[in-house]
Amino acid sequence: MPIYPEFNGRAVVVTGASHGIGAVTARAFAEQKARVALIDIDEAGAKKIESEIAAAGGTAITVRTDVTDEQSVAAAVASVASAFGGMDVLINSAGGYGRLATVEDISAEEWDRTVALNLRSVFLVCRAAIPHLKQSKAGRIINVASISGRTISSTTSPAYSASKAGVIQFTRFLAFQLGQFNITSNAIAPITTLTARVVALRSEAEIEKIASQVPLKRLATPEDHAQAMLFIASDAASYINGVALDVNGGRIMM
Ligand SMILES: NC(=O)c1ccc[n+]([C@@H]2O[C@H](COP(=O)([O-])OP(=O)(O)OC[C@H]3O[C@@H](n4cnc5c(N)ncnc54)[C@H](O)[C@@H]3O)[C@@H](O)[C@H]2O)c1
Repeated sequence: MPIYPEFNGRAVVVTGASHGIGAVTARAFAEQKARVALIDIDEAGAKKIESEIAAAGGTAITVRTDVTDEQSVAAAVASVASAFGGMDVLINSAGGYGRLATVEDISAEEWDRTVALNLRSVFLVCRAAIPHLKQSKAGRIINVASISGRTISSTTSPAYSASKAGVIQFTRFLAFQLGQFNITSNAIAPITTLTARVVALRSEAEIEKIASQVPLKRLATPEDHAQAMLFIASDAASYINGVALDVNGGRIMM
């Protein structure tokens, strides 16, 4: 795996860090000697990742946060900035949807809940973090969107799909406004990824079907995304701004 010496000591905030892509990404940054703040509503889950990182010689703190709640987000960002003395990298990975849905069977409440988790959350966390990222020499925002925000690739949830398209456009807006402060803002757009949530949500036959439609003939792993985010956050990617990077094995072409 590549080594990025520049991450040594950098303050990295990862939302949704208790499980799935967020947890793997938090560990990957800790392995690069970054100091990692684990932001998640599942405090016990985040504490588990924190212990794993500490056991491997890394540095992590847990801040229990509901990323859809304005006060909770403000308090979390203030507490991370105070603990780490600033903030260099923000990764918004918290997100998802409860069930596969159609436009006709989704209630207004489910729509609002899904949009809040996937889009409002990214706005709230970015807004709170920007003053701290402005103080960094190499500020980075990485928002975890989805192939569902780029194209229709399989059944998901219309609220999720629309939110993730919103995340990609919001990321461009951030890139446009924050470039002058030497902060880059990018998104990644993962395809279906073998996390515990996805395995619970989809049948084996469905997973095989989705994999068969990918040129690489496999679904993504959380590590595939963590590696893409390490690169985007690295000094080598300092001129990449406003991009939605497709991490989907080429599925987007089909
Ligand atoms: N797994 C996939 O197939 C896939 C594909 C494309 C995009 N994505 C996106 O990647 C991101 C991570 O997905 P994942 O599959 O790793 O998810 P996951 O369900 O494994 O983890 C999501 C994390 O977010 C946390 N979370 C949920 N609600 C929260 C809240 N209100 N406040 C704070 N934390 C909260 C959960 O506790 C959990 O730790 C999401 O944005 C998802 O939409 C995932």
